[in-house]
This record gives sequence, structure tokens and C-alpha cells, in this order.
Amino acid sequence: MLADMRSVVEQFKRLDRVLSIKREVDPVDEIPSLMREAEKRAKIILFEKVKGSAFPLINNLLGSMDLLAEVFQTKREGVVREWVARVREPVEPRITDWGPVKEVLRRGEDVDLRDLPVVTHALKDAGPYITAGIVIAKDPDTGIRNVSVHRMQLKGKNNLGIRIVPNQHLGRIQDKYEKSGKDMEVAVAIGNHPFETLAAATSLSFGIDEFTISGALRREPVDLVKCDTVDLEVPVTAEIVLEGKVLAGVREKEGPFGDFMQFYVPPMDNHVLRVTAMTHRHDAIYQTIQSGSVEDIHCLALSREAKIYEAVRNTGEIQALHMAPTLFNCAIAIRKRFEGEPRDVATEAFRAYSWLKHCVVVDHDVDVFDPKDVLWALATRAKFHPGLLLIKDTTGFPRDPFHLHASKLAIDATAPMNQWGEFERKTVRNAGVMRLEDYL
Ligand SMILES: Cc1cc2nc3c(=O)[nH]c(=O)nc-3n(C[C@H](O)[C@H](O)[C@H](O)COP(=O)(O)O)c2cc1C
Repeated sequence: MLADMRSVVEQFKRLDRVLSIKREVDPVDEIPSLMREAEKRAKIILFEKVKGSAFPLINNLLGSMDLLAEVFQTKREGVVREWVARVREPVEPRITDWGPVKEVLRRGEDVDLRDLPVVTHALKDAGPYITAGIVIAKDPDTGIRNVSVHRMQLKGKNNLGIRIVPNQHLGRIQDKYEKSGKDMEVAVAIGNHPFETLAAATSLSFGIDEFTISGALRREPVDLVKCDTVDLEVPVTAEIVLEGKVLAGVREKEGPFGDFMQFYVPPMDNHVLRVTAMTHRHDAIYQTIQSGSVEDIHCLALSREAKIYEAVRNTGEIQALHMAPTLFNCAIAIRKRFEGEPRDVATEAFRAYSWLKHCVVVDHDVDVFDPKDVLWALATRAKFHPGLLLIKDTTGFPRDPFHLHASKLAIDATAPMNQWGEFERKTVRNAGVMRLEDYL
């Protein structure tokens, strides 16, 4: 088990999956477009010198299925199954006395968030945004911890605007504090092992600590250490931690921001986070995630894919499934046993995850991780009439003023039964065995 983010990065370096940029680069004009280039190459990118900051910057840690599979030590097809198997047994976190994240402590006036290499991601973003922080808070009634990911706009030395969707768990917890006139203490861990980030991006039932899920993914307890200025605990392995309070009764303009759909969300009156301390490793690496990127969608999708997988695995013989390039569509590869089965599978998928807008069911020889391959199946094997299933007047993604998510489409893109002779895909001898590099 690779314990922290930096050991994952080291492992990916050995696999030649890390692009290291040694020259100084600008976090507004250069970094965002270079991150896009790294994403296209399915590589992690490490900026060793960022203008205006002493911290190096890492991005695209989970920017391809191969990288994600490496973290789970399985193949791409196996990631969802691994998730399902591991989260079955939650593991409680463990409190320890000290951890590397405590190597440097800055409090009060010594805190200056502008020291961090916070990136301005999109052209019309309101400013620099922290996007890879996992936010830790406790329910004031039960003391149970909640961990979730939230975008934070850098607004000054110790000030952040934070987007907390009202019905999500952090929103419910903040509401409780606010109703009793109290600020909500939070800690924000940045530069996390992917399991902590994936668990934080998972929607569990209210009252379940997401660290029990990262513990399950790790197959060992997450080690936590107490904060200095708030009554919370953070992973010892994080690179950087911000401690602070979400102010009760205070809202300020936050945004615009290019979000996970790649659209700009307009400025909104959102919460304010006042930072009281920052702790970090001596040589801390700051992490960022581009919203709407492959990495962002992987963080959000994996637990949703697992939900769909658990729902459909008794309906069809599932080979693989994947949501890409958005959270709203899913391709599912099956070994079809009867006509109509793809429809049943898609219907179950819609039931399992309400934000799903279209679902394409393909044969087992189609690569669901390659949207081009899914389009190939649509063009060559799908029969649109009859074959399409349109579900009207239903519920989907809730932020939907134009009712674009109120209907769903299932597409059977599998070959007709018992016609494999006509629809068998050609292959070449030794496909996947020969390595081009050996011939160069
Ligand atoms: C990179 C990233 C950024 C996110 N930004 C936000 C955000 O700004 N506000 C928000 O409420 N959820 C955001 N989310 C989604 C939540 O973290 C996610 O839905 C989580 O499951 C919510 O936690 P909860 O189940 O404890 O409510 C983001 C997720 C990721 C991966």
C-alpha cells in the first residue's frame, strides 16, 4: 500500500507517467493550459517552480483509468469491482500523536494563503481557486465527522469563499451551527492520497465518516492527528492543512467558476472561511484538480459507477462499465443472453443513479473506457427503432433550468442475438502482444 500522495507520485515516476516541469511557470497564464496538455497525454504533471510560490504543484494524479487502476493495483475493468469489494468493510480511522503534516506550523498573522501556488483555472473564473482540498467538519449534535470536497476561492491573506451546496452534508452541518449562532470549525487537507480524495467525493448516508471508507480502500485505518486551532483531526499524510471557521451568518460573492460540467456557474452569495492556521510538510507539494477534467470526473464517478454496478450485476452479465466524459452518461459492456436484456440493464442503471441521462449498453468486445469505441458500436450495431428507450418526465441532475435532465435515453448498441458470425469484430494476429518500442 502506497501510504501518501508523494509515494503514489514516486510510483508513477517509476512508470514514466509524470511530466516534471523544471522551469518557472505562471499559475494564471501557463499552468492551466499545460495541465490540459498533460491530461491529453494521460500523464501527471509536476510543476517544480511556480511563480510567486515556494511550493511545487501537482495535477492529474487520477487523470486516466490506467493511473486509477494502478492505485487499486488492478486492471481498468477491475477498479469498480475492487471498490465494491473493499468498501464492504469500513475501517475506523486511528488517532496518532504526530505526523509529517505538522512539520511546519503557521498561526494567525503568520498565515498567508497567497504563499500557496493556487491556480486560476479558467478564463472567466473569479480568481485563483483551491480545488483539491478535502473539507473535514463535525456534526455538533453527534460529533460524527464529515469529509467532502469543495471549491474555495482565494480572497485574501486568510480568507476563502467556499461553495457548500445546501442539501449536502457539510451544508446540513453548517446549518446546525448557524442556527445556534456558531461558526463551523473546519480543516482542509490538500495533497492527499487518492483514496482520501475518492472517499471525500462519495455521497454516503448522513452520519457516516468518509474516513471509514478511505480506511476500507486502504485496507487499514487512516491515521489522523489533532489540529492546532480547531477541534478536528486530519490525515497525517496530507501535504498541507488549513484550519479555520466557516463564519455563521456571513455570505459573500463567490464565482464565476468553470465547474464540473465545464460551464461557468455565475457569482453566488456563498460562505466565507476564515483561516486560523496552516500546517504543512517542510517540502510540501500543493495539489490541484481541474474541474470538468478526466481527473475530476474520475473522483466523482467511481462511487457512482460502483452503485450502478451493484444494481445491474444481477440483471446482466457485466463485463465493464464506465462513466465518461461526464457524470451523466454511462457505457455498460455485457455478454448478452437474450434480446431486451440491454434495456433491463439500462433501466436498472437509471434507478441506481438518478443523475444518469443516457446509458449505452454494448457487447463485451467494446471498450467502454474509449468513447470512440462506444460510438463505433452505436454506429455499427445499434438499432434505433425499436431499440431506443426514452424515459420522459423523470428526475435527473437538479440544477436544470432548461429541463435538459428531465428525460433519459437508453440505447441498445449490442449486436442481434445469435448473429455473431455477422458481427464478430476483426482482430489482428498478436494484437496487444507486440510492443512498437521494441522495433524503433
Ligand atoms: C474536485 C471536486 C470539487 C467539488 N466541489 C464541490 C463544491 O464546490 N461544492 C460542493 O458542495 N460539492 C463539491 N464537490 C462534490 C462533493 O464533494 C461530493 O458530492 C461529496 O460527495 C459531498 O459530500 P457529502 O456526501 O458529505 O455531502 C466537488 C467534488 C470534487 C471531486
